[in-house]
Amino acid sequence: MNERDSEIIEQLLCQKGYCPVDNAEAADVVILNTCSIREKAEQKVFSLLGRLRRQKQENPALLIGVTGCVAQQEGPGLFARMPHVNFVVGTQQLFQLPDILHRLERRLSRNEMAINLEASFSIPPFQKMLLHDSARNHSSFQRFVTIMQGCNNYCTYCVVPYTRGREISRTVADIVEEVQILTKQGVREITLLGQNVNSYGKTNPVAEGKVSFADLLRLVAAVPGVERLRFTTSNPKDLSEGLMRCFAELGNLCPSFHLPVQSGSNAVLRSMNRKYTVEQYLDQVASLRRYCPDIALYTDIIVGFPGETDDDFEKTMDLLKAIRFHGSFSFKYSDRPRARSVFFANKVKEEIKTERLARFQALQSKIRMERNKEYIGKTVEVMVESEGAQQVKGRTATNHIVHFATKRQQSLRPGDLVEVLIHSAGNHSLKGISCPCQE
Ligand code: 5AD
Ligand code: SF4
Repeated sequence: MNERDSEIIEQLLCQKGYCPVDNAEAADVVILNTCSIREKAEQKVFSLLGRLRRQKQENPALLIGVTGCVAQQEGPGLFARMPHVNFVVGTQQLFQLPDILHRLERRLSRNEMAINLEASFSIPPFQKMLLHDSARNHSSFQRFVTIMQGCNNYCTYCVVPYTRGREISRTVADIVEEVQILTKQGVREITLLGQNVNSYGKTNPVAEGKVSFADLLRLVAAVPGVERLRFTTSNPKDLSEGLMRCFAELGNLCPSFHLPVQSGSNAVLRSMNRKYTVEQYLDQVASLRRYCPDIALYTDIIVGFPGETDDDFEKTMDLLKAIRFHGSFSFKYSDRPRARSVFFANKVKEEIKTERLARFQALQSKIRMERNKEYIGKTVEVMVESEGAQQVKGRTATNHIVHFATKRQQSLRPGDLVEVLIHSAGNHSLKGISCPCQE
């Protein structure tokens, strides 16, 4: 989501005559678009701001700004902690950036802050900017489309409801228009984005009638030129049968699903306020595999949530063994500002978190390798991402990276779809040869 927001920032600034440069040293304005989902992400922001302080000493005219979740969360505290910061812009206020920069450049003000977070916010029709996008500092064939912003779930560990505010969906018309503009510009793969896409359209009107996420997916899948469609992220508590059916019925919906489970223990899930049980999650996985036997499943895991016992953690390991996820993102629990779990008792010691994370990741890595080997001997469709001298790199619909050799004189461009016969598998990628491979 930050990547898409950064594109919007770039487009807003390009319209005002700014142009992107390759490194911060060459810039007149540096904007850090930030994430505060975990403590580590936030620490990175402060260390980068520390480094920028020196650049500002050498070039006092440099304007430094912080946008996104850390800006939203820290607000005026950022100026106090980092006095060389000139502007702080929260998650709903991006569109104010041109005016803010105008005032700062003309020295009409020294510092600017815009961090209002309104429940009545509606996402501006940003797609119009794509029509005269002079920025283009992004992929030409694969793009993100935000369909909603914010979250109403209040998982007890999570900062998002406080940094991104209430759940707000974009209108169907705006989303479809954005996808149409992108496909006309040659984009072939679309990823729909939201913190909890399954509750799309549930908190504000998005069209004249009711439109569920599954309905939206069908509308976007039907836009000419959408070769591949993905979405992220889903909370299992809202996963509908209608959405699962899409995996069986929509030819361009990629058979790859990111469904964060967070823990394999019902006691921990309850304490996280996730509102589903391990048994319900297993049922969903079984249904998904019935609708789409080839689906690749990915998940998120938090280890060391307050109160997580050895037994709870073993249940997470058992779940990994039972589902055999194709891949996962796993993290040590960290306290986040305003999250309820900050006040929970029985915090898990750092060294235990480290040990649990290492054990989880070692098993996931072994399973990922085994899963990758299942593709050997199969022919898969690969979308080309880049070309090297000897090899081409691309991605399967199941989200596996593939390096492959091509037939002589076969010229491929990013976005092209090629059939590739997989002949070997590593931990992070597959290897193959483009078909037909008789030559
Ligand atoms: N500590 C550790 N991991 C977290 N995540 C969210 N909040 C925290 C936290 N406080 C993880 C979850 C989520 C992913 C985006 O980040 O697994 O799905
Ligand atoms: Fe955070 Fe839970 Fe919302 Fe995901 S569903 S953004 S984890 S509060």
